[in-house]
Amino acid sequence: MKAVEQIKQPIIKEMELFESKFREAMVTKVPLLNRITHYIVRRKGKQMRPMFVFLVAKMVSDGDFNVRTYRGASVIELIHTATLVHDDVVDDSNRRRGFFSLNALWKNKIAVLVGDFLLSKGLLLSIDNDDFDILKLISVAVREMSEGELLQIEKARKLDITEAIYFDIIRQKTASLIAACCGIGAASVGGNDEEVKKMGKFGELIGIAFQIKDDLFDYSDAKIGKPTGIDIKEQKMTLPLIYALNNCDKKERIWLINSIKNYNKDKKRVKEVIAFVKENGGIEYTIKKMNDYQSQALEILKTYPDSEYKDSLSTMVSYVIERRI
Ligand code: IPE
Ligand code: IPE
Ligand code: MG
Ligand code: MG
Repeated sequence: MKAVEQIKQPIIKEMELFESKFREAMVTKVPLLNRITHYIVRRKGKQMRPMFVFLVAKMVSDGDFNVRTYRGASVIELIHTATLVHDDVVDDSNRRRGFFSLNALWKNKIAVLVGDFLLSKGLLLSIDNDDFDILKLISVAVREMSEGELLQIEKARKLDITEAIYFDIIRQKTASLIAACCGIGAASVGGNDEEVKKMGKFGELIGIAFQIKDDLFDYSDAKIGKPTGIDIKEQKMTLPLIYALNNCDKKERIWLINSIKNYNKDKKRVKEVIAFVKENGGIEYTIKKMNDYQSQALEILKTYPDSEYKDSLSTMVSYVIERRI
């Protein structure tokens, strides 16, 4: 059995029902918008975030979950989809989930507005049902995601990123939402503050590993349904490059920075930079860091009694760093 199927096993019914609720949550009377949301639903992603919501809810409550858990999962996937739509505008990326991105098909104007629509639909799903604890967790994540993306842009302009700032960026732009998934899973079944925090931390650790994996993909030629090799083009300096910069001589450093600053759209030069990073241990170092975060996440899981949900979560933690897409 494939890892994802194995992970889904204890929540198969929940995921099916989630999909129909998620579809319903996007309905609108505006024909153009309806066509676009149809397109989005057809090209669904891995749905890892709702899986986290359900698995955490069930692990902390011994198999329990309720309508709040479903709503939490929908809110999260709506917000996630909104941020991807906006992110592809920000990154000027024309592919997503194996097909054209919204900005490639309908242009930036429409993509920005559709992102806003999905974001507001997500927030309203919590508000209309008085899920204020969930709303708070999700709103913190939304704020952090915007801050993270903006910090990333600032660093891409100044090219002065450090390893510590890289971790701040990915914690904010990606890990905060996965932290919210796990926090919401726990909160939806009545977990206390301490439990919600602990699961939030678990999600944050996996989220960091998850973005490190995503950044590694960019250094590969893997077919992942979205472009690779575009981070340098966008002057996005991720961990493999940061490591190489910190571990080469002055002349090489000047060459690297100059390449990113002035030759970021020169395909040949970008290939040379990627080769340099690979030859100088950037990938190995990054994998090592990713594995550290994975182990820390697993430590938190160990504090829970054994269950099929815990098993699935632990397979999920491995899947995050071993996935091919
Ligand atoms: C992509 O997330 C955005 C990142 C945070 C790297 P996913 O890889 O979970 O996207 P989908 O939903 O499966 O397409
Ligand atoms: C993560 O960053 C995006 C969000 C947090 C929305 P990336 O820009 O690396 O994500 P991909 O590679 O486009 O999915
Ligand atoms: Mg992007
Ligand atoms: Mg990426």
